[in-house]
Amino acid sequence: MTYALPADAAEFYESTFVPALFAGWARRLIEAVAPAVDETMLDVACGTGAVACASTAGRVTGLDLNPAMLAIARRKRPDLDWQLGDALELPFADGAFDVVVSQAALMFFPDRVGVLREMARVGGRLGLQVPGRLAASPGYVALTEVVARHAGPAVAAVIGAYFNVGDPALLTDLCTRAGWHIDHFTTWMSATHLPTLDTFLHAELLPVSGHVDAATHARIVADCRVVLAPYLAADGSVSAPLEVQLITARERA
Ligand SMILES: C[S@@+](CC[C@H](N)C(=O)[O-])C[C@H]1O[C@@H](n2cnc3c(N)ncnc32)[C@H](O)[C@@H]1O
Repeated sequence: MTYALPADAAEFYESTFVPALFAGWARRLIEAVAPAVDETMLDVACGTGAVACASTAGRVTGLDLNPAMLAIARRKRPDLDWQLGDALELPFADGAFDVVVSQAALMFFPDRVGVLREMARVGGRLGLQVPGRLAASPGYVALTEVVARHAGPAVAAVIGAYFNVGDPALLTDLCTRAGWHIDHFTTWMSATHLPTLDTFLHAELLPVSGHVDAATHARIVADCRVVLAPYLAADGSVSAPLEVQLITARERA
């Protein structure tokens, strides 16, 4: 699974998902890994730069496979270093960074241990943050069940894939096999906040829209309106709980 995006989808990501979710995650990740002003930091699969832009490191590099995401990151913070590249082959020397972080991306890498090993090669301390378990994120369970009912399990798995590395034992094993010693493993609850249910459904159903016809999509939306009612506030906004796993680690001696 990859994450190739056209320019308008990257703009949608920045205007919708970053304020709804990832800007808040980024503050938490930076607080946990605490880069100092005299340190260098690499943000792997930086997207539009949520974590890189929140960093307290003196020198920050963001790397991503997607030029459209990087163009937005560069527009936001032209003073930071943005590089196009693949997380599996980081174009940096051994030990080039004091801190290496990655947020909301590990699940997209076909070779997760390979990427974590590359991060260990170029970095000293690790900060890693990913969506947790689908089963611990009830609004997303409801959404996925509706998609499965109307479009089948294979299409539902497209949404489920976001949670594919959310199991603590799996994450611990991946990091350990890649040569990291885990200092802190924190499970916390975030929530996806969006101003309307329409925006939420548009955003969260985007990955499945290419797999279903218009009539099926309409049935999915209608059922989702019912099952997501518990997550609506009086002003019509949505707040869907989402478990997050946050790891800080250092290279094993
Ligand atoms: C959900 S976004 C997360 C972006 C950012 N870290 C954030 O917190 O907003 C996932 C990102 O992973 C990037 N990505 C996926 N596979 C990659 C790879 N092999 N190398 C570099 N970036 C990759 C995508 O282009 C996308 O920008």
